[in-house]
Amino acid sequence: NGVTTIDPGYKNTGSCLSSITFLDGEKGILRYRGYSIEELAEKADFLEVIYLLIFGELPTQDQLDKFHADIKSKSVVDDDIKKILDAFPKSAHPMGVLSSLTSALTAFNPSSVNVDSEEEMYNAIIKILGKFPVLVAWTLRKKQGLPLDYGDNNLGYVENVLKMMFCKPNESYVQNEIVVNALDKLLILHADHEQNCSTSTVRIVGSSHAGLFASLSSGISALWGPLHGGANQAVLEMLEAIKEDGGDTKKYMAKAKDKNDPFRLMGFGHRVYKNFDPRAKIIKVAADEVLANLGVDDPILDIAKGLEQEALNDPYFVDRKLYPNVDFYSGIIYRAMGIPVEMFTVMFALGRLPGWIAQWREMRERKEPIGRPRQIYTGENLRPFVSVEKR
Ligand code: CMC
Repeated sequence: NGVTTIDPGYKNTGSCLSSITFLDGEKGILRYRGYSIEELAEKADFLEVIYLLIFGELPTQDQLDKFHADIKSKSVVDDDIKKILDAFPKSAHPMGVLSSLTSALTAFNPSSVNVDSEEEMYNAIIKILGKFPVLVAWTLRKKQGLPLDYGDNNLGYVENVLKMMFCKPNESYVQNEIVVNALDKLLILHADHEQNCSTSTVRIVGSSHAGLFASLSSGISALWGPLHGGANQAVLEMLEAIKEDGGDTKKYMAKAKDKNDPFRLMGFGHRVYKNFDPRAKIIKVAADEVLANLGVDDPILDIAKGLEQEALNDPYFVDRKLYPNVDFYSGIIYRAMGIPVEMFTVMFALGRLPGWIAQWREMRERKEPIGRPRQIYTGENLRPFVSVEKR
């Protein structure tokens, strides 16, 4: 009744008006609130970008200091969250754990669901920005059998994430500028990407007036899939498999082009970019720099570069405008930083958190209606019920 067109995968459906992120996929342009991704990746730090995305402007020093102090004041999570974390098997994928714990936060912060006033909205945002990095770090510490702690609130936002992830008990945090800068850059590059799968999920879940934490938890689940954020883990596993297989990139290129083979070249292709993903360009340069500066010689970087060259000269990839995306080189940097492969998508979630929050806030402040797509029904016509003994 009234629905005449469908658009599977919403390839050509705009779901909202938004003033957060500008993306031109034909030209390979990405901007947050009008600032180019190239300039932000080079000059800003992650906390400034969090503020920019959520509140629309770069913060003054005073605004940034207050923002950071507010976040730090809300970083403690309820002790019972530790018990929930404890109940997961050590083998659990950290994305499942992170999504569950983020949802569980609602139970311990029920007032965060009320966001009718500016103050309530701000408090919900500050709480999740304080607690989420703790949960991220704890998913890793759980895997590694390390005791849970809160790091050091005298450190910067990104520095404290590193301390919380890696410092053993009684070990003092030794700052490695190369690692801090690389993580800052990666988090900035992942911070928002307009109406991608996980962000659309966050907006649509939030459109029913579900709370911020519950909406974010759904976004984390959406991000987990290998066609979306899970691609960063899949890329590294693919590159490792190619290495184990003797480095035969041509064999994997052939598989990727074979329509009877489900294999895809992970980290390649994008729904919107029909040109270089500008984030991938920056990350490729950073991968070279970070590995050189850390003295890491990772053979899979050469395999990745080889694959990229072959794909860029292959008619299959050229005709379909398939270029490396943000996930193609990011895992190589994470690995050089000592982050285990199962944590890669968790790092993506940490980076995407401000984008999800900004989009959720925009959706609520614009009083968007509940998200509810239609369908064209293709099932049976009306038929009489048949009792079980006659079927
Ligand atoms: N390897 C081989 N062929 C591909 C690939 C690939 N990575 N990506 C797309 N194609 C082919 C696809 O088979 C199709 O061919 P044909 O026209 O002959 O049927 C054509 O290119 C168009 O692909 P599509 O699947 O219709 O495009 P989509 O916009 O629905 O999907 C995508 C986009 C990102 C899911 C897809 O390119 C893909 O699966 N890439 C690999 C996974 C990946 O790297 N995901 C990360 C995306 S960027 C970061 C993020 O979203 O978090």
